Order: sequence, then structure tokens, then C-alpha cells
Amino acid sequence: MSDGKNKTWFITGASRGLGYEIAVAALAAGENVVATGRNLDALRKVYESDDRLLLLALDVCSQSQAADCAKQAVARFGGVDVLVNNAGYGQLGVFEEVATDRISAQFETNVFGLMDVTRAILPYMREQRKGRIFNISSIGGAIGFEGASAYCASKFAIEGFSECLAVEVKQFGIGVTLVQPGFFRTDFLDDSSISYGDLRVSDYEQYSTAVMAGYRIRNHQQAGDPAKLGEALVKLSREENCPLRFAAGSDAVQYLSQAYSARQSELDQWASLSVSTDILE
Ligand SMILES: NC(=O)c1ccc[n+]([C@@H]2O[C@H](COP(=O)([O-])OP(=O)(O)OC[C@H]3O[C@@H](n4cnc5c(N)ncnc54)[C@H](OP(=O)(O)O)[C@@H]3O)[C@@H](O)[C@H]2O)c1
Repeated sequence: MSDGKNKTWFITGASRGLGYEIAVAALAAGENVVATGRNLDALRKVYESDDRLLLLALDVCSQSQAADCAKQAVARFGGVDVLVNNAGYGQLGVFEEVATDRISAQFETNVFGLMDVTRAILPYMREQRKGRIFNISSIGGAIGFEGASAYCASKFAIEGFSECLAVEVKQFGIGVTLVQPGFFRTDFLDDSSISYGDLRVSDYEQYSTAVMAGYRIRNHQQAGDPAKLGEALVKLSREENCPLRFAAGSDAVQYLSQAYSARQSELDQWASLSVSTDILE
């Protein structure tokens, strides 16, 4: 039961990477954890059994599975206090080299899956009049990176979604935080997770090869420590006033500061033309 002391966390994509480390940090902090993943055997392999841990199969692309998992989580622990929408992957590739069905698949997981899991959990959070949702976005949810249009579009989408949701559910004591990691050392850039463009457009040949090589070379070399991100989320979950956005990693802070200043200067530079479009009455 969520008794006000130890909270119950519901985490998607918890078989490896950030999701796994967030689950481990929450367990270490004495919380109950519902660790979900596409493959139940993969979950069983990485977690030791624990009374405070429930492992459930959940492909976030299945709305009915999400609803069923939410029900099971509540039946076991009495509620869900913290939802971590973590499941996701990167569809990389220069836009014209990524087929439409791959872009749809990217949105099915990163955006619609996240929305469906949120939809499954929210009624329970509304009922208990409290809750915290961490939506794992990315620096790519605020900055467009070359060779990552599908991925960044999906993360920009959840930024817009989360910002609106935060306003709508605040009245029920539910807070929403977008987590914007920089580059973290997980399987994100590994062939076991990442997807590259499947079309070839000769005009992009050299450019595309160079950009993708830039991503490949970072595989398992990233500076971010997933275990520390897990601990940071536990800390944030205990804050009365959680931020709408939380940048994770020194690279994230640097990239985002530069991007926000560039946006502000562009806004300032064009401000007089911008305001000139008003109807003058
Ligand atoms: N690592 C980074 O540098 C970084 C930076 C910014 C944002 N992020 C975001 O962080 C999140 C976690 O990524 P990661 O770095 O931990 O990568 P990862 O090591 O590749 O782990 C991705 C996790 O998502 C799961 N997943 C993918 N599609 C799923 C689906 N349809 N249903 C359920 N689970 C699914 C994977 O499950 P399987 O094991 O079954 O494949 C895996 O558990 C993603 O949303 C990613 O966009 C990562």
C-alpha cells in the first residue's frame, strides 16, 4: 500500500539502461517498484526477487496491456505514486533516408506509448489526489540534432504534451516533470536499441555516413552515469515542488543553456517585425 512513507513507482522500459537504474535507485531508497518491460524473462534475469518489487510484461505500444499492468500494480501496492515513462529508442537517420513507417514506429513507442501508459495510470493518481510523472525526454526534446529528426520530433512532441498535461492535472496534486538527459552510458546508441535510416539518397551519401559515424562512435562512451540519474530522480520525487524540466548531465546543462540563449537572441533580433503583425485598432 502507498502509505505516505514508501512510494510506489511504476517504470516502463525497466529491463536495462536508465529504466533499470531508476528502478534500482528507487528500491534502494525503500520504495515499492513495478518494473515493466517488453520481455518478462529479461526482467527476471536482471532483478532479484523482492517483496517490494513487481515485474510485469508491458510493451508500451499495447494500450490494453498498459491498462492491465496499471490494475495489477494497484492491486499489489494500493496505488501508484510515481510513474516513470522511460521506454523509448532512437530512430536516427537523415530525414529523407528514414521511411515513413519507421517514423510512425518511433512515434508509436516514444509518444503514443507514453500517452497510453499515462492514460492508464492517471485515474489512480486522480483518485488518490497525488502523484508524480517523470517523462523521459532528452536534450533532443529541446534542440534539433542533425540526423535525428524523427527522434527529436518524438521528444519535442512529449515536451508539448507534458507541458499541457502538467497544467491540467495540477488541480489533483499531480506533478509532471520532463527529464532531459544528455548522453548517458546505456544501450541507447547500441545496435540492440538504435535504428538507422533504411533508404539511401545519393546526395546525402557522405554527409549521412559522417553524421551516423558521429553517433556510432559515442556508443558506450557517453559521460552520463545512469545510476546517478536514478538517484537524482529519487531525490526529485521527494521534493514538494518538482520542476517542469530537469536537465540531466553537464552536457545537457551546456547544450540547453546555449540553445535557450540563442532562442532569446533570435526573438529579440526579430521582435519589431514580430510585433508588427498585430491588428492595429
Ligand atoms: N542514453 C541516453 O543518452 C539518452 C539520452 C536522452 C534520452 N534518453 C531516453 O531514455 C530512455 C531510455 O533509454 P536508454 O538510454 O536507457 O536506452 P536503452 O538502454 O536502449 O533502453 C531502452 C529501454 O526501452 C525499452 N523499450 C523500447 N521500446 C519499448 C516498448 N515498445 N515497450 C516497452 N519498452 C520498450 C527497451 O526494452 P528492450 O530491452 O525490450 O529493448 C529498454 O528497456 C529513452 O526514452 C531514451 O530516448 C536516453
